[in-house]
Amino acid sequence: MPDDFERMWTDLAGVGRSSASGGYFRQPFASAERECHAWFCAQAEARRLRLEHDGNGNTVAWWEPSGATGDAVLTGSHLDSVLDGGAYDGPLGVVSALAAVDVLRDRGFVPSRPLGVAAFSEEEGSRFGLACLGSRLAIGATTPAAARELRDRDGVALLDAMATAGLEPEIGPAEWLRRVGTFVELHVEQGRDLVDRGTAVGLGSAIWPHGRYRFDFTGEANHAGTTRMEDRHDPMLTYAMTALAANKQARLAGQRATFGRLEVGPNSTNAVPSRVTAWLDARCESDAALAALVEAIAKQGADRAERDGTALAVTAESVSPAVVFDDALTRRLAQAGAGPGDGPARPVIATQAGHDAGVLAAAGVPTAMLFVRNPTGVSHSPGEHAETTDCLAGVEALADALEELAR
Ligand code: GLV
Ligand code: MN
Ligand code: MN
Repeated sequence: MPDDFERMWTDLAGVGRSSASGGYFRQPFASAERECHAWFCAQAEARRLRLEHDGNGNTVAWWEPSGATGDAVLTGSHLDSVLDGGAYDGPLGVVSALAAVDVLRDRGFVPSRPLGVAAFSEEEGSRFGLACLGSRLAIGATTPAAARELRDRDGVALLDAMATAGLEPEIGPAEWLRRVGTFVELHVEQGRDLVDRGTAVGLGSAIWPHGRYRFDFTGEANHAGTTRMEDRHDPMLTYAMTALAANKQARLAGQRATFGRLEVGPNSTNAVPSRVTAWLDARCESDAALAALVEAIAKQGADRAERDGTALAVTAESVSPAVVFDDALTRRLAQAGAGPGDGPARPVIATQAGHDAGVLAAAGVPTAMLFVRNPTGVSHSPGEHAETTDCLAGVEALADALEELAR
């Protein structure tokens, strides 16, 4: 007898959870994420779903009753987390997908198309720096050659990390994804839009363009005590002024800019550093606004570097253009489950967060997203939350959507 939603949620609650912060550390191909993955496989087997593993670390559990033909309907999300992340970002979509299969079976529904539940690998880019790595590789948006160059913070290569985790890496376009005709990803909302609208479940309209940019500041290491302030070439100072400039530019333009990760060399308390590497995460309403924002921040950084006698090099590590989800599909799902007299459709909202759904949509797969209300809007943090009643409403909405698409 498979677990129901709440039991499944309890199964995962302790996996990779820090007792200090209450947040989750489920980095791809490391033990906690592998434990979640093994749990997913066991849940799929308990439901007699056929497991398919691709060489990119993605796994799909297929419900393929005899007679099911044609393009597949795919749902699911990811099981990895950011460092010290929340419980819901990713796992909510996977657990809800398994629960939706149970709801459909309880309804006596038999899909006439294959129905897959996916667990995509390295969605957050928290280990290898490139978000949605599993889906990008599977769909061909990232080349195997580029992925082979990726290293984690300890210098471990992607393929070595996969092999150490017991996988047989064979990165590149995945055959299973070619069968997919529609993808619906359910995700916890990562803002407060649904709270403000007073509704538990909404649909996604679009994902803001976003990118990750490495800022390498270089200067001159020197003694923290004996070097006069006016004689320094301190890259930390250039970085600090650039971070302030990024915040100001983003505020002025109504966009988002964050420096959330920093490496300092040599990282000594009593030395002026020689090197600061900082990663900018920038997100804007349009592709042009994103390019303009990053250019403005880089220019202010470069101007400041000139004054500080330091240097700045900016490298775009990944840029994801605007994604608009399938409009007809989204409108159809916004009404799914509602009868003619049931009142307005579910709200359709844009998001500033990246998702595997964005990667598949950008590659031409008709894609929609369901969002579940997050009472505080907090995400990528231990405080991320969704009420169980809202999660269960999400499961019903997902089941309605899958029934609509796979009937
Ligand atoms: C993923 O959640 C992202 O938006 O960075
Ligand atoms: Mn996510
Ligand atoms: Mn995330």
